[in-house]
Amino acid sequence: MSISNGSGRDEVASGKEGRDAREGFGGSPLNHSRQRHPGNHGLSFALTTASQNRPRSTVAMSSNADTAQAKSRSGRLPRKRFYRARAHSNPLSDSHFPIPISPADFDYSHHYPYFFPPGSGGRSDGDAPPRKVRFADIGCGFGGLLVGLSPLFPDALMLGMELRDKVTEYVKERILALRASNPGNYENISVVRTNSMKYLPNYFEKGQLSKMFFLFPDPHFKEKNHRRRVISLQLLDEYAYALEVGGIIYTITDVEELGDWMRSCLEDHPLFEAVPEEELEVDPVVKLLSSATEEGQKVARNGGETFRAVYRRIKLEEE
Ligand SMILES: C[S@@+](CC[C@H](N)C(=O)[O-])C[C@H]1O[C@@H](n2cnc3c(N)ncnc32)[C@H](O)[C@@H]1O
Repeated sequence: MSISNGSGRDEVASGKEGRDAREGFGGSPLNHSRQRHPGNHGLSFALTTASQNRPRSTVAMSSNADTAQAKSRSGRLPRKRFYRARAHSNPLSDSHFPIPISPADFDYSHHYPYFFPPGSGGRSDGDAPPRKVRFADIGCGFGGLLVGLSPLFPDALMLGMELRDKVTEYVKERILALRASNPGNYENISVVRTNSMKYLPNYFEKGQLSKMFFLFPDPHFKEKNHRRRVISLQLLDEYAYALEVGGIIYTITDVEELGDWMRSCLEDHPLFEAVPEEELEVDPVVKLLSSATEEGQKVARNGGETFRAVYRRIKLEEE
């Protein structure tokens, strides 16, 4: 799979190239496009300094972001106002950012250096099977769920997937700041800028994940835009592939129609079954669904109702 290069919007990806190369990032083998835009999928990647590639209006903001980034490395949380992004990105349009050719090419040492120290060659504990990402937060937004989950499952690696570049940068800086101010903590969470609707199989092997999260996904109200929704029967095939048998998909929204849509897709898919309410009551993750993320907090502040659907990946006879 190659990286498309259509819109010319993504000056961040190309602008990183020089800087990442100078800082020695981007060592993992990636496809041809990755050669041209090496290594900006890692948490350790910095914001671009190639201001000549950007429209004038974004230059000042990004230099503020560079300052914010330096602060996050010293433990100060980034400020959202330096990471303004458009409200939505079209998940069906082409963007260009680096993607691993296959899950084996995902560079764990960039994202989780605590678990994969330099020289470990991507293996965490001697001859033990390599540790892999187990939780995926799809459309992670500003990263609140990752931050909430991290201390609950300190040994589980978690990855946020986010389409908007500035929002992804914010999450990276947020994690770096949390790591700097809480040594030894928040080492198990990271984020990639990617389009999960296109590239999920590039990140996860069959049965790799134990939890997937879809919290307050974009509703795409108009019927002609329903194909942009991040839950659909077709995409559930991919999610079923990436989830282990017994793995769980958590969804929540404040849009009733979308809640019905997600539930009915899950209900109609032969590889998922609803998790019983009594199990949800004792699942520590469930409390976070409505409270941990920025969207969830906004909905709660406004007294909005939420609609949750939590389903388990089941085994088919022939599997
Ligand atoms: C409404 S926000 C919710 C963010 C977060 N889950 C929360 O609850 O605060 C939806 C997020 O999904 C991201 N998104 C939409 N489509 C995506 C895709 N195909 N791949 C990755 N992220 C996507 C958007 O950029 C946006 O940040």
